[in-house]
Amino acid sequence: MEYVILEKNEAVTLITVNRPEKLNALNRQVIFELNTAFASAEDDPETRVIILTGAGEKAFVAGADIAEFASFSPEEGRRLAADGQERLFNFIENLAKPVIAAVNGYALGGGLELALACHIRLGATTAQVGLPEVSLGVIPGYGGTQRLARIAGPGAAFELITSAQRIPADRALALRIFNHIYPPEQLLSEARALAGRIAANSPSAISAAMNAIRAGYEPLRSGFDKEIEAFGLCFATEDFREGTQAFLEKRKPRFTGR
Ligand code: CAA
Repeated sequence: MEYVILEKNEAVTLITVNRPEKLNALNRQVIFELNTAFASAEDDPETRVIILTGAGEKAFVAGADIAEFASFSPEEGRRLAADGQERLFNFIENLAKPVIAAVNGYALGGGLELALACHIRLGATTAQVGLPEVSLGVIPGYGGTQRLARIAGPGAAFELITSAQRIPADRALALRIFNHIYPPEQLLSEARALAGRIAANSPSAISAAMNAIRAGYEPLRSGFDKEIEAFGLCFATEDFREGTQAFLEKRKPRFTGR
């Protein structure tokens, strides 16, 4: 694999997104490789817990790859969201084994959505999280409108998504986005310690408990579908062209609402 590292250590498999030069942004290849890595950890009889993190000190994942989707049509945009949700975000959420996100830096856009799809989130005190998509003329398309509202509540979701602001780790902890925060140098060892405590318990009972917890989310499916449709429609707007071009040209966007 080019962008994903898989390291097995007895009952714990560590999956690292390894594209630090682009702050681990999710392009098609990264999503494909992550799907392969999670499927292999799920199928591995020895693995009981999975930890997901990002390579480098700066980022967990800085979002979907803006350069990749900037020229997409509305149908391509819709498909990007639908395929990504199916192959990675819903796939992780529905695994039988618990996934711990160790958020070691920026978790923005699709990067925060990836963490929100994991079952447990631990953050570095230096992490910053947010859903900045509307600053690009688009909306969260990998489940963020649904999962952030579920985890942090609708008020926090409306504020974070409409303001596009990045928040520090302690605020993310207060909003229940993170279960715990740790100094960056302790983050992975704390994730491993938690994984060890989980791995001591019955895998079949854990999987049954996870199914019961997830059963409460099922009514949200129509919300995910609405998000996919709305994400695709953004790709027909002038604001989307302007927002993504401005990011690529490293300047501030000039939005008109068209
Ligand atoms: N897509 C593509 N490239 C990205 C990226 C992304 N999401 N985030 C960072 N990069 C690239 C930068 O373009 C830059 O590449 P070059 O060196 O080739 O110019 C490299 O990674 C390093 O980034 P910066 O120079 O920007 O680093 P910085 O420290 O100045 O800023 C940052 C860090 C604030 C995280 C900034 O990179 C940033 O704002 N990134 C974009 C965050 C974002 O908007 N994410 C949402 C994406 S949309 C999405 O995710 C849609 C969805 O829900 C499906």
